[in-house]
Amino acid sequence: MKGIILAAGKGTRLYPASLPISKILLTVYDKPMVYYPLSTLIRAGIRDILVITSESDLENFKKVLGDGSQWGLKLSYLIQPVQRGIADAFLIAKDWIAGEPVALILGDNLFYGESVPALMKRAIRRGKGATVFGYAVKDPERFGVVEFDEKGNAISLEEKPSKPKSNYAVTGLYFYDGTVCDKATKLVPSTRGELEVTDLNRLYLEEGSLQVERLERGVAWLDTGTHDAMLQAGMYVQSMELNTGRKIACIEEQAYEQGFISADRLLEYLKGFKPNGYYDYIKDIVLRDMKG
Ligand code: G1P
Repeated sequence: MKGIILAAGKGTRLYPASLPISKILLTVYDKPMVYYPLSTLIRAGIRDILVITSESDLENFKKVLGDGSQWGLKLSYLIQPVQRGIADAFLIAKDWIAGEPVALILGDNLFYGESVPALMKRAIRRGKGATVFGYAVKDPERFGVVEFDEKGNAISLEEKPSKPKSNYAVTGLYFYDGTVCDKATKLVPSTRGELEVTDLNRLYLEEGSLQVERLERGVAWLDTGTHDAMLQAGMYVQSMELNTGRKIACIEEQAYEQGFISADRLLEYLKGFKPNGYYDYIKDIVLRDMKG
């Protein structure tokens, strides 16, 4: 399975904080925001990843992530010239996807929870159709909303409804089969002028092949849509990291755990950085492992 990180948004809601650089490269506590969605894909076992950015931020993303080989990944880049919506990613990336199944994660979606990798792996194993994740929120009108029947089956999807039919938001992490690009070509722009991911998901729902997994309360899905939400996300990460002694979205650790990169290569990589709390954490993990 391949993965896409959609990071082309201007982040105007965070101006002036995001004026100099993409919102997705702003800091969430101790790392750039893009580390979080990237580590989510890595935890799903995905290493062939496309980053879709705006033209003006392409070089910044390359500076932060490079070609990914330092983490045992294969990163590619494409530009979204005009912001035409999330589903536009599948028109832009059609050749790169080449008919394979693909996961898409929005660059500003931060997931944290032990149950997430197993859910993602189940979505990958499913093979046919699409899988999305529902998360109970207090302000569903800000999101795509999924409605369930009494048996828990998804029956409707609406994008930012003024009267939500449930309090379940559809999160920005989607798993699709090889038909996704063909489906995306059938979409027409919404009233806000975008190719909506909700319309794409509805095509799967209508053919009876959309699986909606509900994320349990133990999973954190962090919002970064406002200045306060950004700071709160950072404080959440800080608090979890300090309390547990484990880092959230440490790409190096995740890639190492997945076996994408060996201990020797990771130690070599660490030589390129001045020791600090972040890199010392990784070094400790590798050295502890080597001692067995
Ligand atoms: C987008 C999607 C929406 C989804 C949300 C998750 O919203 O359109 O369906 O619930 O991401 O973050 P937007 O970022 O356009 O507000």
